[in-house]
Amino acid sequence: AVADDYLRRIPKAELHCHIAGTLRATTVAELAKKYGLPLPRPAEQLYQWPNFDGFLEILRLSALVLRTREDFSRAVYEYCEDASRDGNLRHVEFFFNPDYFYPNGIDYPSMVAGMADGVERVGRDFGISARLICCIDRSINSPAKAVEIVETALAHRHELVIGIGLDGNESVGPPAIFAEAYALARKGGLRCTAHCCEDYLTPLEAPPTNYLICRDVLRCDRIDHGYNMLASDYVMAEARKDGLYFTPCAWTSLLHNRPHRPQRIRRMVEAGLNVTINTDDPAMFGTNLGHGFTTLFDTIGWGPDKARMFSLNSVEGSWLDESDKARLR
Ligand code: HPA
Ligand code: ZN
Repeated sequence: AVADDYLRRIPKAELHCHIAGTLRATTVAELAKKYGLPLPRPAEQLYQWPNFDGFLEILRLSALVLRTREDFSRAVYEYCEDASRDGNLRHVEFFFNPDYFYPNGIDYPSMVAGMADGVERVGRDFGISARLICCIDRSINSPAKAVEIVETALAHRHELVIGIGLDGNESVGPPAIFAEAYALARKGGLRCTAHCCEDYLTPLEAPPTNYLICRDVLRCDRIDHGYNMLASDYVMAEARKDGLYFTPCAWTSLLHNRPHRPQRIRRMVEAGLNVTINTDDPAMFGTNLGHGFTTLFDTIGWGPDKARMFSLNSVEGSWLDESDKARLR
């Protein structure tokens, strides 16, 4: 077994983290009060929901407190402050869904400028680097809307925005319908990832073949989650040959059987996939990078070699330039 302190202190890059899911409940409550946004429950109970779609609703509601450039800067700053302390975060690639924030009157360039302010501050204060991934919520964004989101990202190109992603409920937004948005992103020089085979859904709702669609139709460079792929030996064998990096998350409060995620991650590693460890929505799930690693290792019993493997995988799987990767290795 590895000491928890070693797991917390080993340097990490994080490739799967939604900015709206990182907000401290106290910050959400403070900003909601300032802006007169009604919340369903007090801060201590805010992050509770009956199911996956209920979780997504609270996520989108919390996002509504980010209204100014300063709010976006603060969100980046507070997450990096927490993750530096809890898990020695050194690099993070944040998902942000621009359409979550438009109801507040902020435009795309201003939200990106706010996050860029935060990135500059966390570089200075914590030595953390960060990039941004413009994300499409498949539950509420039509394929046409997804194309618009990519067009906006390309029209207001910012050096920190390096790719696109696809989140939300996979059972109502299968990957193939977003082919046009992905083709446009690739043509514009953006990298591509997508949430795929999430285990909140059954392998019938989020089937292993979604991996093949993400690979061949969306032409993804990376895959978020991936657990339901374990239901197909063929898909697992393909994924092993392909060598894409995966970004599963060790802890989620959406699954009540705690060891499930660690056991699925173990099987992904044993099948030879390139695996990284991430937090997804750390504040909302009541976790952090250090906690994710300690839970995973306490459940599986891996030694320090695996901790070093995950640490290095997170650098190799990142979308940093070679020179930045070299700095982190
Ligand atoms: N799954 C799908 N959509 C999401 C998630 C997730 O875990 N977190 C934030 N949006
Ligand atoms: Zn996610």
